[in-house]
Parts: sequence; structure tokens; C-alpha cells
Amino acid sequence: MGVKFFCLLVVSALIAYYIYSPLPENVEEPWKLMLLNAVLRTVRHVATLMEKLGLVHYMDVLKAFVNIQHTAPVSDEKVTVTDTEFNHVPVRLYIPKEQSDALKRAVIYVHGGGWCLGSAAVKSYDLISRWTSERLNAVVVSVDYRLAPKYCFPVPFEDVYSVAKYFLQSSILEKYNVEPSRICIAGDSAGGNLAAAVTQQLLVDPDVKAKFKIQALLYPALQTLDLELPSYQDNKNMPVLPKSLVIRFYSEYITSDESLFKALETNQHVSAEFNHLFKFVNWSKWLPERFKKGHIYTVQSHRNSKIGQKYAGLLDPRTAPLLVDDIKLQGLPLTYVVTCQYDILRDDGIIYVSRLRKAGVPVVHEHAENAVHGGITFISGPISLNLGYRMANNYIEWLNKNL
Ligand SMILES: *[C@@H]1O[C@H](CO)[C@@H](O)[C@H](O)[C@H]1NC(C)=O
Repeated sequence: MGVKFFCLLVVSALIAYYIYSPLPENVEEPWKLMLLNAVLRTVRHVATLMEKLGLVHYMDVLKAFVNIQHTAPVSDEKVTVTDTEFNHVPVRLYIPKEQSDALKRAVIYVHGGGWCLGSAAVKSYDLISRWTSERLNAVVVSVDYRLAPKYCFPVPFEDVYSVAKYFLQSSILEKYNVEPSRICIAGDSAGGNLAAAVTQQLLVDPDVKAKFKIQALLYPALQTLDLELPSYQDNKNMPVLPKSLVIRFYSEYITSDESLFKALETNQHVSAEFNHLFKFVNWSKWLPERFKKGHIYTVQSHRNSKIGQKYAGLLDPRTAPLLVDDIKLQGLPLTYVVTCQYDILRDDGIIYVSRLRKAGVPVVHEHAENAVHGGITFISGPISLNLGYRMANNYIEWLNKNL
């Protein structure tokens, strides 16, 4: 009896120790978040272990976990949902059932998941698109671009680009009864990265007549140059998206060569010849004072790595939309940016807000003071967060008013 009790005590203590992770004071629903984080951490540990044993690729384990949350395309009384293809790229299409002659608005949605995970079929993404279609009476195209590591850069970008280009043709807009001047592109995290990159490239594409009226970027990843921004330093071990995972995602997106991962880990991935790009992500210049707290800007130097030359995709604006001249930002559409205080990607978004404003682009910036990364993906499943519902609501409300 005594031994059993002792074992139980030890096991409970170990479980509690494993689940417990220190969180910032002001986060909402801390216990739920801690539990959620313990689940995500466990999946990552299992992935690391299985990869070390040579059984599977790390991302395959994470993928399998995310894919549990897939749902079939189910129509309801308000929206017809189908899986189809635009330009040979799979998309999930949401078409409102309401009959009217008036042209509809449209949203192209790009899901997140570090370019390696996720799909339009994941329950929370299905919900976001369904709600958007329902509340705005809009056509929603949720893009199932191909994923890294199997399909590295630029395949995910090009898949989203070709869906956008296909949809923006006047014959297709006519077919779906869409008003050409009322189309939005939106995405979260890596999807926000792709949405921002596609919007920049479409702006200068002479073949595309219809342009986006607005873009919505939810906690986007926007640059690969400086992985020591204040938010990288402050939030490197925050729930959901630790620095090790961001770096893994970036390196899988660009190449399967492990040397890139190692160089990114030490922020030594760029050689001196790219020094001219640092001004685009200079946080000393672009971050408002309150986000600089406790950090001292040092001029980046001692970078001898040849990695930046070896993997051109790494510093390509299609990977890192922040690395373009102001002139390329001019003319971008009204932009909605959501950033979260306890998110490693926070400063990417904030710097983009500052740079867009400087370039004369109208921006609406929503900063969530008590949030971690990934809010809107936590609106379904056994552990859902208030934060997720609120963000989803604010996003859809903003679209409704501005599209
Ligand atoms: C960054 O900005 C600071 C001040 O705003 C400036 O002194 C510094 O030269 C800049 N560095 C680069 C690389 O742009």
C-alpha cells in the first residue's frame, strides 16, 4: 500500500511538473493555456524522439496530430461548402445560399501552420471561413497549398499566387457573382506571410486587373533576417510557438539542409553582403518605445556565414515581405494587422505596421495585450480559448465593415 501510494505521488508530481509552465501574469484562462501547451509540447517531444530514432520525419508527427482535426466539406442551411481546384490547386469553397442579384464580396483565406502543417479542412479554419461566408454573405476561397518539407519554397507561395490569379480573372469573378472591387486576402501566421507576399507581388503583376481591396494579416511571420528582435528574445519559450519551432519551420520551408537550421539558431545565417537589408527590420527605428523595453540595439556584425547566398529563398521578399524597399509598399491596400504581446512574431507585425504607415498605406493595427501566438486556431476541439473567439469575431467584424 505504502509503495503504491508513494508511486502515485511521484507520478502525479511528475505530471504536474510536466504540465506546469510559467506564464505571463495577465494571460487569460492560464490553466487552459497551460494544458494546451502541455499537449503541444508532448507532441513535439514525441516528434523529436521518433525522428532521433530514425522512424519518421519530425513534421510528419506534427502533421498527423493536426490532421486529426480534419472535417469533411459539409454544407449547412446558409453556405454551400465544396472541395474543388483552382488552377490545379485544391481549395475549399464557401458559397452563400442566399439568392440575390447583387454582386457578392469575396475573401481568399490562407491557413497557417509554418508552411509545413495545416489545411483548409482543419476544423478551426473550416469554421473561420464558414463564419466569414455566412456573416458577410461572401464567397470564401480557402487555399490548400502544398506543404514543406515535401514542397519547399517557392511552391507554397506559388500555389497561393496561382489561386489568387485564377480567381481574380473577370470570367471567374463573373461565374461566382463576385464584385471585382471588393475582394480581400487574409491569413494567419505562415498564412499571413503568404498573404502579405502574394499581395505585394500581385500589385506589380501586369496580367492582373482586379486587385485586393484589403488584406488581413493575423500574427504574420514577415522576415528571416533578424531572429533576435525583442519579441524573439522575450518570447522564445512562450506557449504554442517557441523559437526552436519557428526556426525549424523556416528552415524546412527553405531547404532540407540541416546547416540552415543551425545557422538560424545562432542568428548567423547572413553574410555581410546583405547588411543593407537590416534597415528594413531595424527595430530601433521601427518599434514603438514600449516594445523596446529592456533591449539595447546593437549593430549586427560578425556575420561570416555564406548561408544567405546558398539559399536565395531565405531573403527573398516572397519569404520575407518586410525585406522590400518602401517604394514596393506604396500602393498596397488597406491592411489589418493583428499582433500578440506574448508572440515571438509580434515585432514582425509591428515593424510592418510602422513601415506600411511610413509608405502611406492605411493600416488598422490590433494589438492583443494578453495573447500568445495562434489565437484563432483555438476555436474548436477539447480546449478552446476565449481569446480565439474574440480574435475571430474582431477579424470578421473588421472585414464586414471594410470590404
Ligand atoms: C537603426 O536605427 C538606429 C536609430 O534609429 C540607427 O542609429 C542605426 O544606424 C540603424 N541601423 C541600421 C542598420 O539601419
